Amino acid sequence: MALNGIEIISTGSAVPVQTATNDDFAKIVDTSDEWITTRTGMKVRHISSGEPTWYIGANAAKNAMEKGNVNPEDIDLIICTTVTPDFQTPSTACMIQREIGAKNAICFDMNAACTGFVFALDAARRYLSFPDINTALIVSAEVLSKMVDYTDRASCVLFGDAAGACVLRSADKLYSSSLSSDGTGAKLLCTRYPFNPNPLQDKEKMPEFDDLDTPHDNYLHMAGREVYKFATKALPFEVTRACERAGIKVDELSLIIPHQANVRIVETAAKNLGVSMDIMYMNLEKYGNTSSASIPVALDEAVSEGRIKKGDKIALVGFGGGLTSGAAVIEW
Ligand code: COA
Repeated sequence: MALNGIEIISTGSAVPVQTATNDDFAKIVDTSDEWITTRTGMKVRHISSGEPTWYIGANAAKNAMEKGNVNPEDIDLIICTTVTPDFQTPSTACMIQREIGAKNAICFDMNAACTGFVFALDAARRYLSFPDINTALIVSAEVLSKMVDYTDRASCVLFGDAAGACVLRSADKLYSSSLSSDGTGAKLLCTRYPFNPNPLQDKEKMPEFDDLDTPHDNYLHMAGREVYKFATKALPFEVTRACERAGIKVDELSLIIPHQANVRIVETAAKNLGVSMDIMYMNLEKYGNTSSASIPVALDEAVSEGRIKKGDKIALVGFGGGLTSGAAVIEW
């Protein structure tokens, strides 16, 4: 079956009110503005002072719906991507549905870590190719401050909280994707769920299993150097493959919106891809790494700044925990 492309009707974003500068981090760990700026490009990030993931996500969704003049009752599907849900059940998508009144939507969450938005776009496009789903809402919402270890200077300075959203419909437009997953790299970026020990447990009966050899706490653990190497290869690989599948050359892209993990990753990846940094949209100095929210937040900013025009071919590309990586080439 031939699938249609997609049209992004509107985009939106939202952030918690509180911000933290590099100097604020220098007050709690042994770091400096100079170290963080030169190694990451980050200056400020938003940090939740209690706003839940679903709330920030719902605000991004409302922002996108308002800009697109979209009625909540017309939304047939809500996919929320998050690695930081407030509840294991209900899903964050159901919480957002409740808040925005999208009573006709089917709702579920997806976890593809920082690549979540690109995976969700692909899933939504498949749903939208069938006649019973006409309008989809993707919300990528993250409150990473819930799982960051604020005593670990190598990771805590990197992350921020935000949400991005878009409303989309099926359209006869160019679309291609390249998605990859590699569970053999699972250990490189991981956070455990809390586990409740119970009085009926019999340790003698515990089977042998090959668990990840990482600390049994609920903080985010990251092998920074390995993730860096993976990311600088994954980005050019996915963009190149998505362009090949779209039947276009990389230099036909007018803008690439990468996951905003680290400016050095994106610079090296741009070199590996053979493109100038001028077509790499960057805004991480204001947000830090917001996992799956980073691409739709950057997309929303790029649209508001007039960086994307009708007919432009752009690529969205992510990489992160799982390991996962992926790119989508879309026509605006
Ligand atoms: N401030 C000051 N010094 C710091 C620091 C901080 N915030 N974080 C780490 N350091 C120190 C380390 O302790 C180490 O000191 P040592 O040499 O005395 O042991 C030194 O800086 C170098 O550490 P290293 O981890 O080798 O630095 P790096 O050059 O690899 O940069 C990252 C660290 C995290 C910025 C880099 O590895 C990176 O960007 N990785 C990818 C992370 C990422 O994007 N993850 C999410 C992907 S979705």
